[in-house]
Amino acid sequence: MRQLLDEAAFGGYGVGAFNVNNMEQIQAVMEAAEETRSPVIIQASRGARQYTNDRFLIHLMEAAVELYPDVPVALHLDHGNSPETCLSAIAQGFTSVMMDGSLLADGKTPSDFEYNVAVTLEVVEQAHAVGVTVEGELGTLGGIEDGHGSGTVQLTDPDQAVEFVERTGIDALAVAIGTSHGAYKFTSPPTGDVLAMKLIQDINDRLPETHLVMHGSSSVPKALVDRINEYGGEIRPTWGVPVEEIQLGIRHGVRKINVDTDARLAMTGAVRKVLFEKTDEYDPRAYLKPAREAMKAVYAERMRQFGQAGHAGDCKPKSLETMREAYEIDLGEPLPPLPGAPLPSEALAEARADER
Ligand code: G3H
Ligand code: 13P
Ligand code: ZN
Repeated sequence: MRQLLDEAAFGGYGVGAFNVNNMEQIQAVMEAAEETRSPVIIQASRGARQYTNDRFLIHLMEAAVELYPDVPVALHLDHGNSPETCLSAIAQGFTSVMMDGSLLADGKTPSDFEYNVAVTLEVVEQAHAVGVTVEGELGTLGGIEDGHGSGTVQLTDPDQAVEFVERTGIDALAVAIGTSHGAYKFTSPPTGDVLAMKLIQDINDRLPETHLVMHGSSSVPKALVDRINEYGGEIRPTWGVPVEEIQLGIRHGVRKINVDTDARLAMTGAVRKVLFEKTDEYDPRAYLKPAREAMKAVYAERMRQFGQAGHAGDCKPKSLETMREAYEIDLGEPLPPLPGAPLPSEALAEARADER
């Protein structure tokens, strides 16, 4: 994932990280990525890993890579609650992990700064040793998804963010700016007092080299909510994160944008419509196919809006071994230079120097 984020920083765009739990979601992401020629991040929560027993997920991802060879894709663990969870994901084949030490291992109780540094650093040391990317989180989001989350917002402190990045060596930093997981984020269109985009700018000013991550970034489009309600659903009036705010974030260092809920809404609306209109239907393909199409439309739209569309050719994915060697150099243990392309951080530095 580090490589995708480095390229995104160089190109000035963001990369959507889409949560998946099943084959139709993976197919929809990959089809959207191929159609828009986008690099993409596919992520699985602990809940998704349990639901798929890991192995179904891994084999579906292998099929995705085989069937879409032109789409650079990273498989990322979303909200790892402990070093053990992160290590088990790496053992299964994830190439990137999030150690969410903003909460204790129960995934609910806000932790303290020293705990967060300790568990995140432990994961960074182990993950980088095998070439795997690490995302950390500072501050807590609102909302509770599948039992994950404290339910209270604790915005990220920009000064603490600098210390956190320096002490842990993470590749990407998830920041808390007032968003929450799920459909119910805001009770009216969000303004600066509930959605603190200014914080992103402050953090980016202090940490211009750090890839920032926005969680809870579904936009909760009214059309998707209306469709569910039109066919018997009862989603209450709600607002998500406007795409223009995400685009503002992308101009200030946001490179990874987490979206789950929008696809869930699209899928649910499409399934409801078929079952409502065709009450004698019982072939799952009759509703899963439109569901897959509806999700694909959401993913493709976000890929265009985040700017990743057209960038599939930016990088030729490097092996974990190459990334491991790059991390060793970053850690100050020199290895002989690798033949071929420059390492991601060198490439970025060179590209920036060329720009100036
Ligand atoms: O982290 C939040 C994502 O929306 C994943 O949700 O834990 O219900 O799979 P989940
Ligand atoms: P949404 O619920 O807004 O889609 O956020 C998903 C997310 O942040 C996963 O980590
Ligand atoms: Zn999240």
